[in-house]
Amino acid sequence: MSINSINIVHKMSRFYKLCVAIVLSLTLLVSNSQVKAQDAAAGGAPAAGAAAPAGGGGDAEKGKSLFTNNCAQCHAVTDEKVVGPGLKGIEGRAPSKDWLHKWIRNSSAVIASGDAYANQVFNANGKVQMSSFPNLTDADIDGILAYIDQQGKPAQAAAVAGEKDSKNAGGPGGSGPSTSGGPSELFTFVLVALLIVMLLVLGVLLAIVTILSKAVTPATVDGTQPVGSLGQRIKTGLSDAFNNTTLRSIVIWLFLLVVTKATIDGAYGVGIQQGYAPKQPIAYSHKLHAGQYKIDCNYCHTGVNKGKSATIPSANICMNCHGVIKKESPEIQKIYAAIENNQPIEWVRVHNLPDLAYFNHAQHVNVGNVQCQTCHGAIEQMEVVEQRSSLTMGWCIDCHRRTEVNTKDNAYYDKLVALHRKESKEPLKVANIGGLECSKCHY
Ligand code: HEC
Ligand code: HEC
Ligand code: HEC
Ligand code: HEC
Ligand code: HEC
Ligand code: HEC
Repeated sequence: MSINSINIVHKMSRFYKLCVAIVLSLTLLVSNSQVKAQDAAAGGAPAAGAAAPAGGGGDAEKGKSLFTNNCAQCHAVTDEKVVGPGLKGIEGRAPSKDWLHKWIRNSSAVIASGDAYANQVFNANGKVQMSSFPNLTDADIDGILAYIDQQGKPAQAAAVAGEKDSKNAGGPGGSGPSTSGGPSELFTFVLVALLIVMLLVLGVLLAIVTILSKAVTPATVDGTQPVGSLGQRIKTGLSDAFNNTTLRSIVIWLFLLVVTKATIDGAYGVGIQQGYAPKQPIAYSHKLHAGQYKIDCNYCHTGVNKGKSATIPSANICMNCHGVIKKESPEIQKIYAAIENNQPIEWVRVHNLPDLAYFNHAQHVNVGNVQCQTCHGAIEQMEVVEQRSSLTMGWCIDCHRRTEVNTKDNAYYDKLVALHRKESKEPLKVANIGGLECSKCHY
């Protein structure tokens, strides 16, 4: 036990410190790349519509946001049927990619052309009309298809996201951010693997350094072995470890990183309630009333064509029918109780924009001729209402970028259309009439 071994110990501990530095920077990189991936998934949506398709066909990253904003309310990426069929394996079963481009841009035209497969799908799904997406380019659609394909594969990281999706029955992403696919995920994966290996190396090194430095302590040079029971030695070992500043700072660093990550995740999820489906005070079912009995949405939501709010029906509207129908049911008795006590039924609000945003139903339903289902999903199939769209700013903007203004039979738009025709060959979109102006949506 001489200068030599002391030197070795010194070198080892220097190497050890280097390793600590590497591990710390790796950890930082990992958390950083996660944040970026979420950024793309959560906040990047507004930009997605305008930017020219970067890579040509099949950009799954972009496809994801297009899918979430346009298709998720009616389709799952699994086998599960929502309004339309589950889209898992769609490229295998549809006639061709070209067919898919045409279908997604305008399914009714494909059906009308007498296409056998289109008619078969249409009939098999109760002749429900799918929305048209005339503004999706081939590249957009290829991106969506690439995203669906990626989600359907059980392969490594994609499986995690896929599992989440199937639990959510067609609301991919669920509430809050989810991991997004593509190269950034692989990058994170590699980084995490490296990090784990480095941590293992660190552990081994730590053990070696401890043993070696024990070996060169004066006690051993004297020849007297450190005495004490095994328990005592473990105790001193532990307190040594606790007193080791490097080890302590690693623990503190890791703790800080975990907390930061959790905070960031939480912050991204704030206010996004896709998939929210609270239990209501009365077991009222849209599936029964709007689906089976085909009661018009307007009959109860009397505001949709007239004003900002769609309005929730008062108990009196229920009484138009339940004054005679199913009076004995305990659920219906709750309506009676509300009227007798002169108390409104305390329905739990499902969709809720923050106060800073202005949304008007009449503008969309009456003027814009947008279907309820485009934004709310197939309410008429829901036992309990669920929020199907994200209601984020990116969601509003995305639709305004791709949707044509409904100018039919609307003299108000005649002049605008004429003006627009002079400037551009593109159809008049909501974006062209001010649908992207901050002040239109923000007070
Ligand atoms: C309002 C609900 C709705 C929306 C939104 C919607 N779809 Fe559909 N989709 C349907 C229905 C319903 C069908 C079944 C065919 C029919 O009834 O017209 C269907 C069928 C399909 C099919 C054929 C499925 C098969 O099994 O062959 C594809 C592909 C498809 N949709 C893709 C999309 C994509 C991509 C989007 C988003 C850009 C989208 N759909 C948005 C309702 C919708
Ligand atoms: C018989 C009356 C009735 C009819 C018809 C009806 N609804 Fe409703 N709707 C209600 C009641 C009551 C609530 C509140 C309780 C709940 O959320 O289930 C509600 C809630 C909703 C909500 C959620 C509101 C929130 O809190 O964010 C939406 C969206 C909705 N309805 C859409 C529709 C659509 C679309 C249709 C037509 C397909 C429809 N409703 C037909 C009575 C009706
Ligand atoms: C246009 C007629 C009509 C209106 C309006 C209407 N309902 Fe109904 N409701 C029905 C019918 C029909 C049934 C099915 C009765 C049966 O199963 O025999 C039903 C069944 C129900 C049931 C299930 C009762 C049970 O125990 O099976 C509930 C709960 C209910 N309605 C609540 C409501 C509420 C709340 C409203 C007001 C927001 C409302 N209904 C408005 C026609 C109506
Ligand atoms: C362009 C998208 C869009 C369309 C189309 C749409 N809604 Fe909504 N709906 C929303 C948004 C966004 C909210 C949340 C509004 C808020 O919190 O201020 C909402 C809220 C609601 C509510 C809760 C009460 C309220 O008015 O805030 C009901 C009920 C409702 N919608 C019913 C309908 C019905 C019925 C239709 C079809 C006739 C329809 N919606 C069409 C986007 C839409
Ligand atoms: C499914 C597509 C769609 C979605 C989603 C959507 N809109 Fe719209 N929006 C339209 C259409 C179509 C019009 C044009 C209506 C018309 O002809 O005036 C419009 C018009 C508007 C206008 C009037 C713009 C103008 O210059 O006159 C405002 C404000 C608006 N939307 C707000 C919102 C907000 C806020 C949201 C999200 C909460 C939203 N929209 C989501 C389709 C959509
Ligand atoms: C088509 C409607 C629409 C337009 C246009 C629009 N916003 Fe928004 N904005 C929204 C909605 C809806 C929300 C609420 C989103 C949520 O709750 O997640 C929002 C949220 C925000 C927020 C709050 C931050 C957040 O993420 O919650 C800010 C800040 C904001 N918008 C700024 C702007 C600015 C600046 C512009 C103009 C460049 C603009 N918005 C244009 C609809 C719009």
